[in-house]
Amino acid sequence: MGMRRKLVSGNWKMNGSLATLAELDGIAAAAAAAPNIDVSIAVPFTLIHPAALRVPGLAIGAEDVHDEDAGAHTGCVSAGMVREAGAVFTIAGHSERRADQGENSHDAWAKAAAARRNGLSVILCCGETEAERNAGRAERIVQAQIEKSVPENATADWLTLAYEPRWAIGTGRTPTLDEIAAIHAIAREKLRMMIGDCAADVRILYGGSVVGENAAAILSTENVDGALVGGASLTAAKFVPVIEAAA
Ligand code: G3P
Repeated sequence: MGMRRKLVSGNWKMNGSLATLAELDGIAAAAAAAPNIDVSIAVPFTLIHPAALRVPGLAIGAEDVHDEDAGAHTGCVSAGMVREAGAVFTIAGHSERRADQGENSHDAWAKAAAARRNGLSVILCCGETEAERNAGRAERIVQAQIEKSVPENATADWLTLAYEPRWAIGTGRTPTLDEIAAIHAIAREKLRMMIGDCAADVRILYGGSVVGENAAAILSTENVDGALVGGASLTAAKFVPVIEAAA
């Protein structure tokens, strides 16, 4: 097994303001007190620059980027732009982008490649819907998403995978630890088939209703190398216990 440091990343989604950036002070302090793990947080585009200025020790990221570097794409933001604003990573292929903006795994692939080209690391998301799980198709769906979205030349120094079952996002419901372990094992094997031995070093995060109370158990599950946290990353009071559980 590779030597994988745990990564706990927040994702503020369409939440937050200049005023709530104050939450980052406590989060950055908890991150500094946990030097054995990595902590990062993805924020809305408008908050990237002020967040990066406010907490230089914390890795700030974007929640999405366009797959081209520049051009006639009104309302879109490129990887180079978020990098210039202070982001060091981006999320790609989040299920809310897939559901709300109709993005697919090929789009996630192109966005991951654009991010890499512009010096960002990437948290690339996959995960089945509830109907797909009930039909016994969760494993195949995740394998297919990885197949289509992971860039050929991916390496662990810039790629992180996140398994987020859609039905567990923002619902307070999580898969069992055995179910999480099963998908993470399959994801790692799929990565190994695609990128070889360096798959052992790629971190695979779990996301979906992670909170302080369930984080320790989830994070000690085999092949779970961290967590991608939505609701519980919005305040220091909720996010710090997740960081502490990972440390
Ligand atoms: O990207 C993180 C996310 O989708 C999980 O959200 O609120 O269930 O932690 P939440």
